Amino acid sequence: MKHKTLAVSLLLPALMLAASGTAFSDDDEDEKGGFPGRWSGGGKPGVAPVENPQYLEECGGCHFPYQPGLLPARSWTKLMAGLEDHFGENAELPADDAKAIEGYLVKNAADRSTYKRSQKIMKYMRPGDVPLRISETAYFLKEHDELSRRMVQDNPEVGSFSKCGACHTQAARGSFEERSIRIPGFGRWEDD
Ligand code: HEC
Ligand code: HEC
Repeated sequence: MKHKTLAVSLLLPALMLAASGTAFSDDDEDEKGGFPGRWSGGGKPGVAPVENPQYLEECGGCHFPYQPGLLPARSWTKLMAGLEDHFGENAELPADDAKAIEGYLVKNAADRSTYKRSQKIMKYMRPGDVPLRISETAYFLKEHDELSRRMVQDNPEVGSFSKCGACHTQAARGSFEERSIRIPGFGRWEDD
């Protein structure tokens, strides 16, 4: 059993190193603009990943299962109240399922999250705004203003900004860091 202990003791520091590496690289330094004083700093990188099987099943069938930390609680409440006309589709759920999912979304919403990306989304949002789309929030628009139509709407492998996972290869993990962005047909995103 001796070599087993050795393997674990070698693996653990390696894993910790990998985790801290992500922590540094996922923190973009651009803190200009937004509403001063509304971002406390600190917190974990990215957004909290989805770990709720019911949410993944009910809300991940038609599109990328957006993490709750990408919108404030008030947005999720409004979105869940209008599932029968959900961006032109009927996404209605039995009342008890809808209630459970809404509870999960609200509890983990951007305005309740300690993750950095969630805090940035809130920092750029006006207090009265209730966006139904992540892709229409001020923070999102600021981060994506260099992309052309050819890369998104006219790109047969993308089609819309709602397809986070088409370009952000680590989106399901809650990571949107630049080094893991690949735009289909265009390749790696090089920011300069
Ligand atoms: C029947 C298919 C369907 C189901 C089920 C569904 N959606 Fe959607 N959803 C859509 C479509 C279509 C859009 C618009 C996509 C686009 O514009 O490209 C959308 C868009 C969204 C957006 C906005 C994305 C953006 O652009 O920022 C959110 C948020 C969202 N859905 C959340 C949910 C949640 C939460 C659930 C589960 C309760 C859910 N959806 C279930 C079809 C569905
Ligand atoms: C067509 C490809 C594409 C799609 C679809 C897309 N993104 Fe992005 N995203 C990018 C690119 C490229 C950048 C980097 C832009 C830059 O650096 O100027 C970026 C940047 C970001 C950033 C900031 C990353 C950083 O390190 O500063 C976040 C957060 C983000 N996207 C989230 C999302 C979410 C959430 C969705 C879905 C609602 C989404 N993106 C959809 C291509 C995409």
